[in-house]
Amino acid sequence: MKNVLVVNYSQTGQLADVTAQVIAPLAAAGHKVHLETLVPETPFPWPWSLVDFVDVFAESVQLDAPPLKPLSIAPDAEFDLVILTYQVWYLSPALPIVAFLNSPQGRHLLKGKPVVTLVACRNMWLTAQKTMQRLIGEAGGELRDHIAFTDNAHALATLITTPRWVLTGKRDSFLGLPPAGVSRDDVRGASRFGHALADALDHDGEKTGKPMLTGLRAAPVNPRLAISEKAGHRAFRVWSKIIRSCGKRGQWRRRPILAIFTIYLIAMVFTVVPLSLLLQWLLSPLLKPRLARLRAELEQPSGAQEFNLNKYEQ
Ligand SMILES: Cc1cc2nc3c(=O)[nH]c(=O)nc-3n(C[C@H](O)[C@H](O)[C@H](O)COP(=O)(O)O)c2cc1C
Repeated sequence: MKNVLVVNYSQTGQLADVTAQVIAPLAAAGHKVHLETLVPETPFPWPWSLVDFVDVFAESVQLDAPPLKPLSIAPDAEFDLVILTYQVWYLSPALPIVAFLNSPQGRHLLKGKPVVTLVACRNMWLTAQKTMQRLIGEAGGELRDHIAFTDNAHALATLITTPRWVLTGKRDSFLGLPPAGVSRDDVRGASRFGHALADALDHDGEKTGKPMLTGLRAAPVNPRLAISEKAGHRAFRVWSKIIRSCGKRGQWRRRPILAIFTIYLIAMVFTVVPLSLLLQWLLSPLLKPRLARLRAELEQPSGAQEFNLNKYEQ
């Protein structure tokens, strides 16, 4: 029997549902799972008002996370494996998981431990995962596997359905577009990772230094999004500094710059993003070798191959 720590925070229950699918086979195989649900001292709103949604941008990008309530983990608890689940806010890991990774207790729990990360978001997790990898490394943890769940609908459709979901709480089909979020089938399919991890733990796989979730289509990457994310994150860093120089989160004196940023964000989403996707599509024959290299690199460590699907898909 191994001890597994699973860290979770979810506003709609989407990430919690995916996490539950991974945990169930681990527990059924006799491993002891501690599920730690992060609770921010001041809860984040759901659904988000437009002002709150835009106001959390600068702190998200600058990884300036407000504190969490104390964790329920005993100070002397020791774990064989840590699973960090998170969602993406503005191309960055959401603030609750950042608060955990920046806290002395979170860093202590990760020190010297194999870590699996699991993300569920709209579709842009590459920059956030790079940040996660850095923060895990700084805490002395060892990233062993990464699993990504995204909304499979067309990127242009999710530009409408995700903000609608986040700002109104409505997730259902709208204007003929598919429902927002990770599909039910994909959520159910997350159990394959729990089965594979249970198997790996039974054979001390967490001690080998190698990934445990290869061949399970863990983290498919669209390399074209990597190019958009890089440009977007560069601009986000500049905007987040400007906004923070105008005041703190929640302060009225930030409102004028937040209004300007909102116009910028909407303009970006409805002009630059589709145009850059179109441009990349037109240039794809030229970009092909570069994109293939980028994909192989970004899909590490767990990859997107499928050779183990038959073994672990129930
Ligand atoms: C403030 C905010 C910013 C977000 N930014 C992104 C983003 O940059 N990329 C992305 O793929 N999803 C983004 N999302 C969607 C979330 O990652 C996530 O899918 C959604 O909030 C539901 O997560 P949960 O119910 O598990 O908490 C954002 C959501 C919020 C609330």
